Amino acid sequence: MPDSNSSPYRLAIIGCGKRAREHMVGVLADNRIQICSLADTIPESATQFAADFSLDVPVYSRYQELLEKEKPDVVIVTLWTNLHLPVFRDCAAAGVKAVLSEKPMSARWNECREMARIAEESGSILTFCHQRRFASGNLLARELIRDGRFGTIQRMDLFSFRHLLDCGTHTVDQALSFNNETPANWVQGVVDISETIEWFDVRAESMALGFIHFDNGVQATFRVGSRDMDMWSGVRIFGDKGFLEVGWDGDYRHCHIYNEPDWKPPVVEAVPGEQMIGVIKNAIDCLETGEEPELSYRKALRASEILFALYESARRRSAVELPINPNIGNPLFDLLDHPQG
Ligand SMILES: NC(=O)c1ccc[n+]([C@@H]2O[C@H](COP(=O)([O-])OP(=O)(O)OC[C@H]3O[C@@H](n4cnc5c(N)ncnc54)[C@H](O)[C@@H]3O)[C@@H](O)[C@H]2O)c1
Repeated sequence: MPDSNSSPYRLAIIGCGKRAREHMVGVLADNRIQICSLADTIPESATQFAADFSLDVPVYSRYQELLEKEKPDVVIVTLWTNLHLPVFRDCAAAGVKAVLSEKPMSARWNECREMARIAEESGSILTFCHQRRFASGNLLARELIRDGRFGTIQRMDLFSFRHLLDCGTHTVDQALSFNNETPANWVQGVVDISETIEWFDVRAESMALGFIHFDNGVQATFRVGSRDMDMWSGVRIFGDKGFLEVGWDGDYRHCHIYNEPDWKPPVVEAVPGEQMIGVIKNAIDCLETGEEPELSYRKALRASEILFALYESARRRSAVELPINPNIGNPLFDLLDHPQG
């Protein structure tokens, strides 16, 4: 455990479930952090969590009480999707300097924007856990793309497990990171709602298909939870000199440079825990330097807008231009509630 006397940042965790345990990999690796408290509506979950990580810290069933009494500098929010906005709002009001939230931002577009607005107004750092940006294979892919190894990027094929919002956010975030964070300007989407699912309290489609056009002319297809996919999660990038397939976690599959048939990408060895270590280290670094975090809400907002634009396109049965109406909620919910329009 980091030495509490020399660790300047008091960190609290709200929601002591599965994802909180993953975040601990990064927390324990950063000696600038002192864990000050835990909150979970099921107190046994928090006490078990404390015991498993040998933490001798206060445990709260109401996170509001934790914020009031402990005054943490940093809060990790590992809660189901609909709680991300209200808990961030309370953290910002309590003066928390950095909130590291789980993805997706929210189940509704207007709520994503509200989170961004609160972050702007309060100056609180707000990040969303698209941790795969820190996979060494993804870092290398970004470097190869930046160095022009595949030439000018023209197309991408995007793949994700079901569903568009919960898992698709990782794929769209990965695509944006490969495409120099370039925003999209129009999309077209279709959803299969003959069967629906409910994950983390959010209703969703069983399959989705999309087309995304980016400002720099790059075009992408997007398959989500589809049958007969040739890749389950990740991005295939096509440039005018070659192509590369990268899985979510930075694992390389097929790749080719057209005029160098013997070329192979450098071998990268993923370091255990590298993704979550990167998440925490980068957020704390940015708290100290004032730089934009790699997982900033601004980047998450860009990915979220594409996802909600695809839902809006499915609802309207037409292509949709970005930026989308800032007041829309979740167009898929409208479609599920009124399937005939
Ligand atoms: N980044 C990733 O790769 C990834 C992977 C899986 C899930 N997720 C996201 O992580 C989030 C959490 O998922 P999880 O698997 O950890 O869920 P979980 O159910 O394992 O944990 C959530 C915990 O929050 C507690 N809780 C509920 N309401 C609370 C409240 N008001 N105050 C305090 N505690 C409360 C629950 O008792 C539970 O212990 C979801 O939004 C999900 O989309 C992200």
